[in-house]
Amino acid sequence: MDQYVTLNNGVKMPIHGVGVYQIPDDVTEQNVLDALDAGYRLIDTAAIYLNEGAVGRALKRTSVPRDEIFVVTKLWVESYRDAKQAFSDCLERLQLDYVDLILLHMPYSAYHHAWADLEDVYKEGKARAIGVSNFLPHHMADLIAFSKVVPAVNQVECHAFSQRNDVMKYQKEYGITTMAWAPFAEGNNNMFKNETLLSIGKKYGKTAAQVALRYQMQRGVIVIPKSVHKERLVENRDVFDFSLTEEDMAAIAELDLGHPMLVNHMDTEFIKLIATFTLASGENGE
Ligand SMILES: NC(=O)c1ccc[n+]([C@@H]2O[C@H](COP(=O)([O-])OP(=O)(O)OC[C@H]3O[C@@H](n4cnc5c(N)ncnc54)[C@H](OP(=O)(O)O)[C@@H]3O)[C@@H](O)[C@H]2O)c1
Repeated sequence: MDQYVTLNNGVKMPIHGVGVYQIPDDVTEQNVLDALDAGYRLIDTAAIYLNEGAVGRALKRTSVPRDEIFVVTKLWVESYRDAKQAFSDCLERLQLDYVDLILLHMPYSAYHHAWADLEDVYKEGKARAIGVSNFLPHHMADLIAFSKVVPAVNQVECHAFSQRNDVMKYQKEYGITTMAWAPFAEGNNNMFKNETLLSIGKKYGKTAAQVALRYQMQRGVIVIPKSVHKERLVENRDVFDFSLTEEDMAAIAELDLGHPMLVNHMDTEFIKLIATFTLASGENGE
């Protein structure tokens, strides 16, 4: 069972998937296979996660056909000046001849340059859709004003405590879909024990985690929870057999702090830190 969002270029993307951030390369291959077994059909990785190779091995091993799996990866900032090459490197590590969605990971460095390259990659059919991540409305306005293709997706920190209504409102004008990274706030703020989420979940026999995911999906937001535990992968997938009422939705809307909690893209020190993260030389950390 899956539900889809139709992107602004007509491509259908699952609204629910799995992320593999902070999963070591040697664990990722089995994690992706476990996720596919549990019914996940959207996998989110990135060049900087250094585990695209493992995702690629899992995609080779699975019996799920390639065209039933939606593969997302991201280019890292240091490669923006040669984004076509960086994109080819992603394809090679993933052992694929196309990805479903390629994102610019951060709104720093030569992102206009990289976007022009992704527009070409898109035209050549090597990516079914192109998008961005961590872009604030002013970054998006800058990109859209000076480009040909409007991003299909913006992947941002988005969870019950940081609901990103400002970002979503801006993106709606362009039909840009919001994809939530850290839908559990990486466990911060005690999300899994949050009283509102727990009490709503009790009505449906669901956990706080399941309610947190369902909330985003009912707002049209794509979720990609991560877990290295098979039973949690199953739990996080089991969100298609209940619906939150308007009242439930309103109660969860109240949890919003009104600002990002994990990463502040207005913080100049954070931008300096980003510049120090570089892709490992050699083969994807293997
Ligand atoms: N674009 C970006 O800049 C960006 C940044 C961050 C993340 N992402 C993407 O978004 C994905 C998800 O975000 P995230 O991994 O940072 O955080 P997350 O999904 O919000 O939270 C993951 C944490 O929650 C735990 N967890 C998962 N399911 C649980 C459950 N049912 N009950 C209790 N604990 C549970 C996991 O532990 P265990 O693993 O031990 O189960 C892990 O510690 C990433 O994997 C990545 O693909 C993108």
